[in-house]
Amino acid sequence: MTISALMPVYNRVDLYFERGEGAYLFTDKGERYLDFVAGIAVASLGHCHPQLVAALEKQAKTLWATSNLFKTHGGDRLAQRLVDLTFADTVFFQNSGVEAWECGIKLIRKYFSSIGQPQHFRVISFQGCFHGRSMTAIAASKAEKMVSGFGPLIDGFDLVPWGDMDAVRAAITPETAAIVIEPVIGEGGMKAASAEFLRGLRALCDEQGLLLYFDEIQRGTGRTGKLFAHEWAGVTPDVMCIAKALGNGFPIGACLATERAAHGMVPGTHGSTYGGNPLATAAGNAVLDVMTAPGFLDEVVRKGNYFAAALEKLVATHPKIFTGVRGKGLMQGLVCVPQNSKVVAALRAEKMLAVEAGENTLRLLPPLIVTEAQIDEAAAIIDRAARKLEETL
Ligand SMILES: Cc1ncc(COP(=O)(O)O)c(C=O)c1O
Repeated sequence: MTISALMPVYNRVDLYFERGEGAYLFTDKGERYLDFVAGIAVASLGHCHPQLVAALEKQAKTLWATSNLFKTHGGDRLAQRLVDLTFADTVFFQNSGVEAWECGIKLIRKYFSSIGQPQHFRVISFQGCFHGRSMTAIAASKAEKMVSGFGPLIDGFDLVPWGDMDAVRAAITPETAAIVIEPVIGEGGMKAASAEFLRGLRALCDEQGLLLYFDEIQRGTGRTGKLFAHEWAGVTPDVMCIAKALGNGFPIGACLATERAAHGMVPGTHGSTYGGNPLATAAGNAVLDVMTAPGFLDEVVRKGNYFAAALEKLVATHPKIFTGVRGKGLMQGLVCVPQNSKVVAALRAEKMLAVEAGENTLRLLPPLIVTEAQIDEAAAIIDRAARKLEETL
């Protein structure tokens, strides 16, 4: 038997992390790493944030599961808070990002069938997008590494070049139902859609009677300095999926929608055993307690600007290693000259964690509670790693 007990669908780094504290992770050998991955934008309040630990400890001693056949005050409260804080009128909780995505796709199809237009079922998505690994999510992205061997692909997704409004217009057919976009594309290379582009999509959807669907799983819940990234553009979608930082590591996703868009989602049309269970919603409520406290998101903006300025300096100092900075808030990317995986490995050798993204970008996702001193520490590590890489050129 040569296959590992854990199915080998990841090239896992040979590091065993045992403990986390704020912006740091500690291995089983006691080594400390500066964590600018944060579970890929999950542990946004850092590891073992005291308010979250207290909320989960309390919930763990009270109630774990009821089934969605019954109500819980925590679930109702989290849904109401998300409604109050966003464009949405209604929320369904799931266990993961891709499930929240899938709920949105089902909701879009159901909306059109419930208004007597089931011929509208196709969704326009953007090249480089990533919505997860379910059959509809890979059909939306069509990235070779994700779809190869998994065909036939589910029909109903039309890919257009990123940021190309003419291509979006040209892709609309009598079967189109919706347009889906990540306002800041994460896996695809840390590119932020311009406010003008997002506003253009909103206007196009309104003109054509289509639904606008935002995937804010990675950049949502505080990461760009607004609770949700689309707020920067002053437009709202009809449907949005979120996950990751909403639970800070406790699995929770959510599909948010307007009353109009969710019109067909009546009892029996959708469901989940675990989605929004008492532990998950306790985590979600504790995350919102911290993130909606006065000044928290302003600090994310300030630290994001500070981080971006530090990264710009690194680009100027190391033109043979980095050619540009991309991103928004505390979701930053450095466009690399050497293979980005080499840069990630060089950082790891200096005890800092970062992750690759598309278009040869280095993705830097510090926890939102990162301090200026820790940003300085990261900049010094990146500088050191870049110098070492320069020596090998
Ligand atoms: C933008 C986006 N959508 C969807 C997903 C899928 O989320 P999950 O891995 O929780 O299923 C991810 C995960 O990285 C993501 O970044």
